[in-house]
Amino acid sequence: MTELKAQDGSAASPVCFGCMQFGGTADAAASQAMYEACRGAGVTFFDTAHMYTEGAAEELLGGFVAQESEQLIVATKAGYTGGSGRANILAQFDESRKRLKLDRVDILYLHRWDETTPLEESFETLSELQQAGAVRHIGVSNFAAWQVMKAQAVAARFGARIDILQPMYSLVKRQAEVEILPMALSEGMAVAPYSPLGGGLLTGKYQAGGTGRLSTNERYATRYGQPWMHETAAALTKMAAEMGVAPATLAVAWAAKNPAVTAPIISARNTEQLAPSLAAQTFSLSDEAYARIEEVSQRPAPATDRLEEAG
Ligand SMILES: NC(=O)c1ccc[n+]([C@@H]2O[C@H](COP(=O)([O-])OP(=O)(O)OC[C@H]3O[C@@H](n4cnc5c(N)ncnc54)[C@H](OP(=O)(O)O)[C@@H]3O)[C@@H](O)[C@H]2O)c1
Repeated sequence: MTELKAQDGSAASPVCFGCMQFGGTADAAASQAMYEACRGAGVTFFDTAHMYTEGAAEELLGGFVAQESEQLIVATKAGYTGGSGRANILAQFDESRKRLKLDRVDILYLHRWDETTPLEESFETLSELQQAGAVRHIGVSNFAAWQVMKAQAVAARFGARIDILQPMYSLVKRQAEVEILPMALSEGMAVAPYSPLGGGLLTGKYQAGGTGRLSTNERYATRYGQPWMHETAAALTKMAAEMGVAPATLAVAWAAKNPAVTAPIISARNTEQLAPSLAAQTFSLSDEAYARIEEVSQRPAPATDRLEEAG
């Protein structure tokens, strides 16, 4: 099993904080306040990407971690734009390291599957970076399970290994349960799933007439546009009210409780929004509440299609 630790041996926190909003919906001051709130709550794991907010997210995170990067696990990603070829990985990673002001990054993910570049080229490059000490762990994001296993076989030929996966995963996006999470458990790979609130849907704010990413971003509106997803958010909100807890806390705690999950990646635009997601770190979700929450969401079909045998 991949053991995620900072360079000084500090363990990965039960949640990771994602910096996608830094320099976007969160200005520098709001970003710093969220970073400090995370550190105050013991978060040691931070996620960003070359493509977020045209580099501002990496720049801001680099400033915040400067005095304490050895105590933290800092992850970034390459190849969302420009593919996963050697020249693009090296150029983007170089830029990321400059922005982050780090010689070594704890995790470098390929941001998404690139069907035009041979895996040999991508993984030879990642392996070189790892052997040079510039990357501690190699990860992949948004890969299907077969793509992970195919890439893992190629990585082994270069003396490397995919240590961590970053799939989308929430109560309204459970596809990862079918193949990715069982594969990760079986292969000993860590998992840092993203969007545990379904981009904000599972806060319940849209039922209450609120606005946010789903009302301003068409991609997210489509991703979370199915009526059953909104029904799930409403049912979760009702359950949360009965339990006297924020729906966001329940949603993050639910994702974190899956045995394959190392640390869900939480995010927000300010500290007020962040508080209920951070609270999931210390919220104890009972098995009974976990099962009740699952009942209000749609379970994906099993990989073999043999519904009668699904547990
Ligand atoms: N690998 C990938 O392809 C990928 C893709 C997406 C994200 N990620 C990573 O995962 C991280 C988390 O993803 P995410 O931002 O989609 O996570 P999320 O937790 O599903 O959504 C976070 C968003 O929900 C809204 N929100 C959060 N708390 C709230 C509250 N208490 N009340 C009302 N609204 C609230 C905010 O957006 P609004 O206020 O705008 O509604 C916030 O930005 C990112 O920062 C990034 O590091 C990776």
